[in-house]
Amino acid sequence: MGRPVFFIASEMFPFAKTGGLGDVLGALPPMLSRIGVNVSVILPFYRLTNNRHKTQQIYSRVPVGYPWAPITADAHKIIFNGMPVYFIERAEYFDRAAYYNTHKGDYFDNAERFIFFCRAALALIRNLGEPPSVIHCHDWQTGLLAAYLEHYRQIDPFWNDTRSMFTVHNLAFQGRFSSRLFDNCGLPDEAWNMDGVEFFGDLNMLKAGLNYASKITTVSPSYAEEILTPEFGYGMDGVLRRRANDLSGILNGVNYSIWSPEISRYLPRHYSAGDLSGKRVCKEALLTELDLSPHLLDRPVFGFIGRLREQKGIDVLYGILPQLMRHDIGIVVLGEGDAKFEETSQRFALEYPGRYASIVKYTEALAHRVQAGCDSFLMPSRYEPCGLTQMYALRYGTPPIATAVGGLRDTITSWPDPQATGFTFDECSGEQLLEAVLTAMHLWEDSPDLWREMVLRAMKMDFSWERSAASYIKIYEELEGRSFKRKYW
Ligand code: ADP
Ligand code: GLC
Repeated sequence: MGRPVFFIASEMFPFAKTGGLGDVLGALPPMLSRIGVNVSVILPFYRLTNNRHKTQQIYSRVPVGYPWAPITADAHKIIFNGMPVYFIERAEYFDRAAYYNTHKGDYFDNAERFIFFCRAALALIRNLGEPPSVIHCHDWQTGLLAAYLEHYRQIDPFWNDTRSMFTVHNLAFQGRFSSRLFDNCGLPDEAWNMDGVEFFGDLNMLKAGLNYASKITTVSPSYAEEILTPEFGYGMDGVLRRRANDLSGILNGVNYSIWSPEISRYLPRHYSAGDLSGKRVCKEALLTELDLSPHLLDRPVFGFIGRLREQKGIDVLYGILPQLMRHDIGIVVLGEGDAKFEETSQRFALEYPGRYASIVKYTEALAHRVQAGCDSFLMPSRYEPCGLTQMYALRYGTPPIATAVGGLRDTITSWPDPQATGFTFDECSGEQLLEAVLTAMHLWEDSPDLWREMVLRAMKMDFSWERSAASYIKIYEELEGRSFKRKYW
């Protein structure tokens, strides 16, 4: 089995999910475990997890912090797909209605919550007793862990042979907080510099991950290149260029045991590339479920699923919606997000009854039905580190219409290429999006055979996790073979 690899993250499906990070954690560690990696996951013990899953408490009052013990954590465990998943419990931080925020904004103490989580995760690993070979951290919530590891190594030889790895799922979310919070971190003063955790006078947790982790990855090869530029770097391009030799892009995969029209438990009828008839049944059922006009069964229906934020280009879609609606088409938008975008979506539903459906909710089941019941999937993102929904759309035979950025560029072949699986355009602009949607609409109307061929090609694309898992293992092996050198203090 080899020495342990620990994944530390703030989401993992089915225990906690707000987006793609949850899907990745729900699929990649189990895949690694199946391949034979000795892998475990550590998550916060949210109320939403506690309410839905039966865990076993394994530790109480583990001292957190090193070498001091200012507070303690409890730990729970569950076996998921043959692999241990641990949960860090501290009611004052995680026993709340949501994960990160309410409708009024982020929880005021998110910095303290994730400082605590990183320290508690290390305390738990120390208690479990076997030094890991790699601690694999994800996004800003776990960025500080890499800094703690460097620090603890100076204090405790237990950590001598443990390396950290940091995966960026979204560079725009950085965990940036007032410098005052640095005092709460319990890191040495030396960490407060621009090669450490400081960013323009603030504490930046993502930057800690970028500076201190032994290796950095992100979730598609194209995004790995884009983030080296000021346009996509969100202020981190300089740091990333300095670390370019340790940075790589590994495309996310799809968990086809969940996201397949042959087996999804949420669909009224299953279908496959061999027999598409069920897709029409799914479309008809979706039109009924969402109160859309039955005549749309014979017209193209476009779907959007995602966080209603500017990243996803939802404002650009809204900008051209009146022009799109001049054509006899249907549009379905499933998403939660910024209040102004939620309101606009509800307004369009009133303006275009029977042709525009707005579902401002988070519902896993409906996500499957929208993927299956629509003809084409809209994803006009401004940037997209990987994007999973377009890969789900491909498998559900719903050719995506997307900006050619990041993972979208790496997963979709654009019409009129003979191998086309969807439609991409260069820039997230209303003009280009409109043109792409109309191109798709005309192809759907005028050339049903070509459309059907594209659907079949899309469904046959294979983005299963095996290949990506092998790329991660290669990096773990590199890390195990490399002797550690002292970094910033
Ligand atoms: P991101 O992580 O940037 O949000 P991804 O495409 O990687 O984008 O992953 C989004 C995930 O969240 C997908 O599993 C998608 O189905 C899901 N999702 C987003 N919004 C909703 C919603 N309102 N209801 C159900 N699932 C949603
Ligand atoms: C982030 C990105 C998305 C990616 C997901 C999982 O939320 O926005 O593009 O697919 O993480 O890596």
